[in-house]
Amino acid sequence: MTVSQESPTGAANSNATKGNEKLDSMTFVLFGATGDLAKRKIFPTLYNLFLDNKLPDPFAVIALGRKNFSSQAFRLHVLESLKIFSRRFPENTDSTETFLQMIHYHSLNATDNQGYLKLVDYIKHLETVLRIPENRLFYLSMAPEFIDTVTSNIKKSGLDSINGWKRLVIEKPFGFDLSSAQNLNNKLGNAFDEAEIYRIDHYLGKSMVQNLEVLKFANPMFQDIWNKENISNVQITASETVGVEERADYYDQAGAIRDMFQNHMLQILMMTAMQQPKKLNSKEIRKEKLKVMEALQPLQKENICSSIIRGQYEAGAINGIPVKGYREEPGVESLSKNDTFIAAKVLINHPAWYGVPFYIRTGKRMKEKSTRIVIEFKKKLSIVDAKDSDKTIPNLLTIEVNKEGISLQLNIKNPETNKIEPASFSFSANNGNTPAEYELLLYDVFRGNSTFFAHWKEVELAWKWVQPALEAFEKSDCPLHTYPAGSLGPVAADQLLKHDGFKWW
Ligand SMILES: NC(=O)c1ccc[n+]([C@@H]2O[C@H](COP(=O)([O-])OP(=O)(O)OC[C@H]3O[C@@H](n4cnc5c(N)ncnc54)[C@H](OP(=O)(O)O)[C@@H]3O)[C@@H](O)[C@H]2O)c1
Repeated sequence: MTVSQESPTGAANSNATKGNEKLDSMTFVLFGATGDLAKRKIFPTLYNLFLDNKLPDPFAVIALGRKNFSSQAFRLHVLESLKIFSRRFPENTDSTETFLQMIHYHSLNATDNQGYLKLVDYIKHLETVLRIPENRLFYLSMAPEFIDTVTSNIKKSGLDSINGWKRLVIEKPFGFDLSSAQNLNNKLGNAFDEAEIYRIDHYLGKSMVQNLEVLKFANPMFQDIWNKENISNVQITASETVGVEERADYYDQAGAIRDMFQNHMLQILMMTAMQQPKKLNSKEIRKEKLKVMEALQPLQKENICSSIIRGQYEAGAINGIPVKGYREEPGVESLSKNDTFIAAKVLINHPAWYGVPFYIRTGKRMKEKSTRIVIEFKKKLSIVDAKDSDKTIPNLLTIEVNKEGISLQLNIKNPETNKIEPASFSFSANNGNTPAEYELLLYDVFRGNSTFFAHWKEVELAWKWVQPALEAFEKSDCPLHTYPAGSLGPVAADQLLKHDGFKWW
């Protein structure tokens, strides 16, 4: 395999090229700058990139919202969010001030066509004064219903008629089902080419997910055994202890299947199952990811409810503290049939994976917060005495995505008892200074690397795969199992594996 110039992972890149990579100067046009995501993630991300010398120079942020702020008042608002949400505290220094001075607030109602013309003038003025070439990055941190309005106005107003490049960053959700996603993409296509669009799936920004390629393809000990000959099953879990929080309006319509499964979980599946690309670059990695999605065995009407388990939490306790059931949560319909848990068995019709089940589960109000991938290897014990073989456990490779660690479970012989026992070896990939997901992702946008963003074809195939399940759920064809808050999910999710002779790890 040839490793191209392009860095395979943001993580590797962040250490190797700290401050060294020359980025194009640009204007960062942030729609929704007064919102929650901007406050929690986007400004803290920009600040940390600034501290790491990973912002272009010169660089300007045009912060947009309907509210009225002077730029100076808005900078104070940003400073307050940095104090709460930045991984590094903004000290009262010249450096913090330099960062804040890059931010310029401009009021715009996104539905006001005339307002975009004023924005064009404002950007041109800033570009001239700050000597920034016409490279424009548009970040849409607004509700999805604005995507079409904003992108078509970008085009109509001439905001995109520039000498340099333009890029567009958009947040999830991308569509509500297959046809709405296709509609949205068609509209986007009128203003931006696919190569200019960066669809954020923040799970792809997690350093352990980005590390999967390196782990698999840079280590011969895994490279040759990542297939059906050696692996019996793969388990991908993303469990949360939180409930629906303040997002009931959205979540009670979306459910776990749209909120987590269609995007984050299927992206992790692609990253885990993809075969070795010809090169570790964006184009080749995406090609391999796509092959996984194309090979997913489609859901058939008759097996949907046995392949996908839906659940909803009831009252229970998290860490000993009683919590309400989903239907009692503020903003949730009292008879809601929405899923807060999904477990699925997925088969991949690819020569590397024939017959290997991939089990995926995700849920709210579960026992622990964890995102992990467990690779269970086949037992091949020809040299162990038959009488000892039933005492062995399968080898497990566990990738802890949030805790940023890897562990390997092996069988060893205890010298004292002379018996075979399981032993676990763990390794932490977190040196305490790992850049946050959004830092890795935004830095990639700055350097025009789309490896860890969802390509439209991946998104479309993911919707195609879940669409029959959405329709079955809509018609209440599949049972909605309940589970107590603080548990591991419905019993039916355990049966899914038990049926195949496995269990969740
Ligand atoms: N928050 C998160 O943690 C999170 C996580 C993942 C994805 N997302 C996604 O990120 C996007 C933004 O979410 P959010 O939580 O930041 O939403 P939010 O807090 O509701 O913020 C919405 C932003 O849109 C602006 N806005 C609303 N109507 C406008 C209009 N007519 N013209 C101009 N600006 C308008 C608001 O500014 P004004 O009120 O000043 O007009 C505000 O800045 C959504 O797509 C969401 O799904 C959010």
